[in-house]
Amino acid sequence: MSTDARVALVTCAIFPDLWDDDHPLRDALRERGVIVEAVRWDDTEADWSRYDLTVIRSPWDYVARRDEFVAWASGVPRLANPADIIAWNTDKTYLRDLAAAGVPIIPTEFVAPGGTWTPPGEGEWVVKPAVSAGAHDTVRYELPAQLSLAEAHVERITGAGVTAMVQPFLAAVDSAGETAVLCTPDANGELTFSHAIRKGPILRPAGQGAIDLGDEEITPRTPSAAELRLAEQVLAAVPGGAKRLLYARVDMIPGPDGEPRLIELELTEPSLFLLTAPASAPRLADAIISRL
Ligand SMILES: Nc1ncnc2c1ncn2[C@@H]1O[C@H](COP(=O)(O)OP(=O)(O)O)[C@@H](O)[C@H]1O
Ligand SMILES: [Mg+2]
Repeated sequence: MSTDARVALVTCAIFPDLWDDDHPLRDALRERGVIVEAVRWDDTEADWSRYDLTVIRSPWDYVARRDEFVAWASGVPRLANPADIIAWNTDKTYLRDLAAAGVPIIPTEFVAPGGTWTPPGEGEWVVKPAVSAGAHDTVRYELPAQLSLAEAHVERITGAGVTAMVQPFLAAVDSAGETAVLCTPDANGELTFSHAIRKGPILRPAGQGAIDLGDEEITPRTPSAAELRLAEQVLAAVPGGAKRLLYARVDMIPGPDGEPRLIELELTEPSLFLLTAPASAPRLADAIISRL
């Protein structure tokens, strides 16, 4: 097949040729006759009106420049996922909306800049910023022994104008790991289950921060019925409905009762782990073509 269709896959300066995991998507689109270009989101020369669809993939340096990134998204015609979703999903305070809709999230205290909070009691807790990717500035603390460190961390985040999140550390991540459920449109355009992976634990023991992302442990996983149900429940609560989405990744960790808790809903720039599931890239390429 040959089309004149042109698709931009959005990346950043660090990955000018895309992240490896997006190569199967690029190749599947090219095999289908689509012209594919990898473009930096902050490329001032880029003319986004040239593309039949602009698909966000690896713009990972936006974390320190979120306002600029959200403004960029709102100016791109034909963007996947849509700009209003990007604005909502790049600040994890969206978890409050999902909790209000009945989704079991990891219990979270959100500390807004200038806000106050009550430090939790004993046990292991995680402090992290609400605008993040790749476990940026995410640390686990043993309380009360490390209370002053945890408090200083919250102050550092909020002092930079970002909401801080304080959560119980879900210890099951060290054994069961984290499950990411990937959803893309089926032949009818309905967002449905594509594949899933297990991600090994990222946080080192209390006070030590995260492992190197290069050491991240990713393996295919068959999700449990409860995990699939949680993914469905989360997607049903997305503002405007999931039908508008080209991709979604629902990340979860078992809570103390073994039932999955939502850690994040990735609608902006998730790694889709296409390399772990050979059918996933052709499926996503077909979905992109049917939306052109
Ligand atoms: N409450 C928690 N309990 C256990 N592990 C956590 C918790 N919060 C974060 N983590 C670990 O830190 C990683 C990054 O946190 P996450 O909330 O997914 O932010 P990011 O957007 O940076 O991926 C997770 O993949 C997980 O391994
Ligand atoms: Mg994550």
